[in-house]
Amino acid sequence: MDPSILIFDTPWEAAAACGVRILEILNQVRKDRGGATFAVSGGSTPKLMFEAMAKRPFQWQGIELFQVDERCVPPDNIESNFRMIRQSLLNNSSIDEKQFHRVKAELEPAEAVREYIDEIRKVFQLNRDAPPVFDVIQRGMGPDAHTASLFPGEPLIENRTGIAAVVYVEKFKQHRVTLLRAVLEQARHTLCLATGEEKAEALSRVLNTPFNPLRLPSQISSANTVWFIDKAAASRL
Ligand code: 6PG
Repeated sequence: MDPSILIFDTPWEAAAACGVRILEILNQVRKDRGGATFAVSGGSTPKLMFEAMAKRPFQWQGIELFQVDERCVPPDNIESNFRMIRQSLLNNSSIDEKQFHRVKAELEPAEAVREYIDEIRKVFQLNRDAPPVFDVIQRGMGPDAHTASLFPGEPLIENRTGIAAVVYVEKFKQHRVTLLRAVLEQARHTLCLATGEEKAEALSRVLNTPFNPLRLPSQISSANTVWFIDKAAASRL
């Protein structure tokens, strides 16, 4: 199914609309099923979204939060996605630290991913081999069309069964822990947030060229995938 695309005048409007939509979905799912699961991305773009979410009078009880990916650095490192999420959302909302299931990226990468998979299995009460079905996954996109920490050419993009893995990102000389394709594809709702001129070229290739996720990982999608973008990112569509 083709994704929906929503275009906003400014990065702030795109981020705020994405955040508000996520809260609406989480609220509805919680009403229907008593709780909801939500995986968030890192990088810099979601910061505005988290700040917009933190300003809303939303009660977070019953929502379990996870990370789409994490850089293998300690949680107080400037590169840490958790650090950004904590500063922009966790510190300014009613989310209890027990509700946020972070990647313990200060551990050895293999250990960090093992613990993260165990945590996901525990919270989702999974049978050993089944990947989790998240209610909401929020994703970003890099200028090279990567999403989560699945970069173009990464062999793990062909893995359609695993939950999470360690990747080594050559261009940043960094290990990362990332959710895998099966999890991204099974999400009930995917909201992709991408803003700025430097994303325009990649976005046009992702949305307008044939499906080839090994080359364009951001083409990975699930049911109900919606792109929240600003005019600058939309400029080559
Ligand atoms: C990360 C991510 C990553 C991100 C894109 C976009 O750790 O970097 O979670 O997948 O979504 O790289 O990053 P920006 O928002 O910084 O452009």
